[in-house]
Amino acid sequence: MDRVLILDFGSQYTQLIARRVRELKVYSEIHPYSMPVAEIRAFQPTALILSGSPASIYQPSAPKPDPEILALGLPILGICYGLCVLTDLAGGQVARAARREYGPADLLVDRREDLFADLPPRLPVWMSHGDQVTDLPGAFRVLAHTDNAPYAAFRHRERPLFGVQFHPEVVHTPQGKAILSNFLFRVAKCRPDWTMRSFVESSVARIREQVGGGRLLCGLSGGVDSSVAAVLAHRAIGDRLACVFVDNGLLRMNEAAQVVEMFGKHLGLRLVAVDAGDRFLDKLRDVTDPEQKRKIIGAEFIAVFEEEAARLGRMEYLLQGTLYPDVIESVSVKGPSVTIKTHHNVGGLPEKMGFRLVEPLRELFKDEVREVGKELGLSDTILWRQPFPGPGLAVRCVGEITRERLDLLRRADAIVAEEIRKAGLYRDIWQAFAVLLPVRTVGVMGDERTYEHVIAVRAVQSHDGMTADWVRLPYEVLATISSRIANEVTGVNRVVYDVSSKPPSTIEWE
Ligand code: XMP
Repeated sequence: MDRVLILDFGSQYTQLIARRVRELKVYSEIHPYSMPVAEIRAFQPTALILSGSPASIYQPSAPKPDPEILALGLPILGICYGLCVLTDLAGGQVARAARREYGPADLLVDRREDLFADLPPRLPVWMSHGDQVTDLPGAFRVLAHTDNAPYAAFRHRERPLFGVQFHPEVVHTPQGKAILSNFLFRVAKCRPDWTMRSFVESSVARIREQVGGGRLLCGLSGGVDSSVAAVLAHRAIGDRLACVFVDNGLLRMNEAAQVVEMFGKHLGLRLVAVDAGDRFLDKLRDVTDPEQKRKIIGAEFIAVFEEEAARLGRMEYLLQGTLYPDVIESVSVKGPSVTIKTHHNVGGLPEKMGFRLVEPLRELFKDEVREVGKELGLSDTILWRQPFPGPGLAVRCVGEITRERLDLLRRADAIVAEEIRKAGLYRDIWQAFAVLLPVRTVGVMGDERTYEHVIAVRAVQSHDGMTADWVRLPYEVLATISSRIANEVTGVNRVVYDVSSKPPSTIEWE
């Protein structure tokens, strides 16, 4: 199998390069820029890609690769800072540009061959740089320029060494994928033989290698990420993986039963389902402050999880469904290091219990995780599940949490989900759910005056949960939801629709 080695100089886009290469069905790995040339040789790459970086090549502390990489004779593509690295290795000059260039630019292609074969002479590209090449070594020739950058793309006259100043990996360079494809297939002669099946196979092998004869514990929530991670790990090590599913009494209608059915019975995972609803609800009695609710639920989750883990005996490893967007990349020029965003649901556990983490999905984006899940045979119901917060219905039951109020909320929420699905909108909406408000309002049913609860319906569109816009649901869908809730959920006489975006509102009400 052809392998592309991406040397990371710390750019925020490095993972996107890897993603584009994967999309083109070529296997790739990201390694630190400082990888010694002997290790690079041992890796047996078909081609190298040098990433961008927040650094400047002329700074004394600039990250530089092993200078012997040019002697490997491999095809190399330098992107942005990577282009400066190639220039520097070849004895050229890079300096601060008179005019920095951030954003869209028009690339004028001088030679429609190699990287630019079969592409138009003028391409919109995305620039993000403050430096530029001022002296291009004679061994190179220009392939493209912009008004601002005379050497926006170049290649070595004889050898397959290429540099591009712009970022082909970002969506703002619409032909970027075609340019990368030209590098991989025309220049480097890679074969497009890497698939999600290969990803599954190599991840399974990697998990086996990492865990060895040890045992792996997983906190299964039923969400997409933990589900895919668990099924992958199960394929790798079978019953040496144990999953703990905590029913905190704050889940949606039938959710606990579905998780047990799917993972325990259908997929055959070793699953411990803990019915801990009483514990959580006891601790939450009379608590109305949102932050306090979250703290209590978080602490109780850890307590339950620890007890179950202890019952299972010594577990050395903890499985987490961390995805790439959860991994915050440091832009330190000393080396691209990564730190993990604490997982909401098991915050603090790894350190406290001395677990070593297994994170098979940490290089992937959400849609790729869904593809992996599909490859593993997981159902659409799991793969397309909308996000659900760790504290569950507690943050949607505004005010006091009682069994009665939770039950009422659950029934209203199930109607929202059902109607959104029926309308064919479920996959296009980030989250749609019901919220129970701590007020009663006056209504009339039959000839009688009522004084009952209010349900707020919330549906938002979002890419990552950081910002969100409320969904313009069709009136007919809202009408059906409203009348069904009022008719079918005893105790509710009013339904309102939340028309707030984030910011200023959050997605959850608490
Ligand atoms: P907010 O309400 O802050 O939510 O706009 C943003 C996204 O995060 C989810 N969320 C959580 N997820 N544990 C989680 O696992 C939590 O404590 C939590 N709080 C909010 C929320 O559902 C939305 O998708």
